Amino acid sequence: MSRIFSGVQPSGNLHLGNYLGAIRNFVGLQEDYECIYCAVDMHAITVWQDPADLRSNTREVAAAYIAAGVDPKRSIIFAQSTVAAHAELAWIFNCVARLGWLNRMTQFKEKAGKNRENASVGLYAYPSLMAADILAYKATHVPVGEDQKQHLELTRDIAQKFNNDYETETFPLVEPLIFGAATRVMSLRDGSKKMSKSDPSDYSRITFTDDRDSIAKKLRKARTDADPLPETEEGLKGRPEAANLVGIYAALADLSKQAVLDEFAGAAFSTFKPALTELAVEKFGPIGEEMKRLMADPAHVDTILKEGAERAAALAAPVMAEVKEVVGFIRP
Ligand code: TYM
Repeated sequence: MSRIFSGVQPSGNLHLGNYLGAIRNFVGLQEDYECIYCAVDMHAITVWQDPADLRSNTREVAAAYIAAGVDPKRSIIFAQSTVAAHAELAWIFNCVARLGWLNRMTQFKEKAGKNRENASVGLYAYPSLMAADILAYKATHVPVGEDQKQHLELTRDIAQKFNNDYETETFPLVEPLIFGAATRVMSLRDGSKKMSKSDPSDYSRITFTDDRDSIAKKLRKARTDADPLPETEEGLKGRPEAANLVGIYAALADLSKQAVLDEFAGAAFSTFKPALTELAVEKFGPIGEEMKRLMADPAHVDTILKEGAERAAALAAPVMAEVKEVVGFIRP
């Protein structure tokens, strides 16, 4: 059976983009794959995290997975820092990846901003750790939103270079799984920016903790243009805000964008936004509620994370033994 690995950073403000682009897809994959889902706390600290918030946000990512329908009995749910293989393999990959490859990473450029000299070394080496997350389990398929595509290409480059340099076939070349009608959900305030945990405006995103009123308020305030909805997807070209809201509706309703337009062609946003609000409250609202319910019992979440860490460590152990042998590390 092929293995799936994916992760979400516990950096707070989990949002609808994380859900539609990634977490929702995790659920269905459990049918056909052995799945490993991680709260990547070591990635989170590449930018400053308050320690108490980090702990709580790590539990929150686990709770969000479960609330969305990931079954902790069937799939593995754990925190990255609790399985040492991630850090160990990341170091080896730091010695495989080239500076030139990392220099091309758009996420680093975006996150480091103008003041690159002041970015953490961890933020720069972030993609090596991500490759280690996946390859410590020899996972072959990785469900993510579109923004992670470049990192997965780098994961393939690292695997290939490792295999070539050491003349082995240790690592598989991973396949990204990017699917659904909303693989890149955009900010509700600006259709040219992706919805993100770090946007200073709370109105830019719908979060797992939003209740009906805040979902309604955020969608009411969401930026749009003045035209009615078009008849075809072609008509959404050049209308990023409209395209975004139609994509969100389609993903939540499990429809194609065209099917949504078939229903709403000619409608004004004053009609479409309330319909979208109802749908979001119906489909996304209960997941947030369940996440909050799970968060009320952190000891229960911790038990799941602990059991997940033990199962994950057992899967990573033979891979790490093989890698160390290949690299030439002696056995203690
Ligand atoms: P992170 O925490 O930024 O996001 C978690 C997942 O949500 C997706 N996503 C989105 N999808 C659609 N629209 C959006 N606006 C949007 N924003 C985020 C992301 O693509 C991601 O799938 N580097 C990863 C975490 C990671 C990882 C891994 C993923 C670490 N190791 C190994 C896969 C495999 C990240 O920062 O995700």
